[in-house]
Amino acid sequence: MNATLPSLETLDVTGKTVLVRLDLNVPMQRGRVVDATRITRIIPTLQYLIERHAKIVVLSHLGRPKGFDPGLSLAPLVDILSENLWDRPVKFSPDSVGATAKLAVEAASPGDVVLLENLRFHAGEEKNDASFGKALAELGEVFVNDAFSCSHRAHASIVGINPHLPSAAGRLLAQEAEALSRTLTTPDRPLAALVGGSKISTKLELLGNLCARVDKLIIGGAMANTFLYAQGYDVGASLYEAEMKSTARDILKEATRKGCALILPLDVVVANALEPHAPSQVMEIKHIPKRSAILDIGPRSLMQLFRAIEDSKTLVWNGPVGAYETVPFDASTVQLARLVALRSREGLLHSVAGGGDTVAALAHAGVSAELSYLSTAGGAFLEWLEGKELPGIAALLNPHAHDQRQRA
Ligand code: 3PG
Repeated sequence: MNATLPSLETLDVTGKTVLVRLDLNVPMQRGRVVDATRITRIIPTLQYLIERHAKIVVLSHLGRPKGFDPGLSLAPLVDILSENLWDRPVKFSPDSVGATAKLAVEAASPGDVVLLENLRFHAGEEKNDASFGKALAELGEVFVNDAFSCSHRAHASIVGINPHLPSAAGRLLAQEAEALSRTLTTPDRPLAALVGGSKISTKLELLGNLCARVDKLIIGGAMANTFLYAQGYDVGASLYEAEMKSTARDILKEATRKGCALILPLDVVVANALEPHAPSQVMEIKHIPKRSAILDIGPRSLMQLFRAIEDSKTLVWNGPVGAYETVPFDASTVQLARLVALRSREGLLHSVAGGGDTVAALAHAGVSAELSYLSTAGGAFLEWLEGKELPGIAALLNPHAHDQRQRA
């Protein structure tokens, strides 16, 4: 990044009501947080504000609700936030704007934390409705964006508050921007990108652009199935997107044109059910049975990836290569994670990983602390990787950036 982001120190926060946009979009199962990485990483910003007796108003979304959805309430996060803040009580406002939110903020004292309900229960958030941005801004005196992982969204809480209030980057956002830009501006080459996971169509287009920036593009997870399908293989009952066939073919051509080595599985692990300990077999990609689904890469593919990583000096990683949540389909992701951790520990590889699933997979492999840098961002991480300007970062550099772009 060329310009310097305004840091927390540039804001007068002492005794003020501070709106803090966080990314509490954490993986949950039956109302419990499965991975708290995003929570632990935002504590330094909250601690800084607590020490300065600020009244902290936390803004976040959870999931992708269409209107009010009790299953996506932020209320279950009150306890875990409080635990991470040394049992400091966290108050909850059942609405993010209007009288309910105003009363909750007014009732709080300096040093208190008030968590507002899921911003996305209001359509104005994702539409970046100017009046919703203003209604949020009315709740505080200064604004801190500490949600790097949401900064690729031009939503009201990301770009619509800055025009109204003095704003700055939180500790985590600043750290993410710094670490990622250092990796991408002058990477030690060869530079490899490993992209996996199951969000197929959202990432396929990004892959095309990555071809121009990286020396090796390793594709894993369900996304690889679409490429195999585009190459004419029968992928049986695997997850894939038939309608992305021509996009996948274009990416394959683009990679060849740009001299980027695109690495796809050679063999795979298949099973008839995605269940723990389901009977599975290793198959060459040309022999996938009709009723079987690809759930992990096979041993030849794993060796191929080991070689690709051993030959690289920098690795950016987003997405597991198999169905890592279900044993035994986590095997290759775990082994890859351990290799990446080892090479990083030995100083032979600069490794940067990001994305909810990737963070959870690295935790599952027990190596989260051993990569060079672990980003809390998924989509934002990939957009950053592509060299796209993130609206949330642009808004911190110029509070009116978004309005100006809309008018142009
Ligand atoms: C993320 O998990 O990447 C962020 O919270 C953004 O979520 P979104 O993709 O639903 O906008």
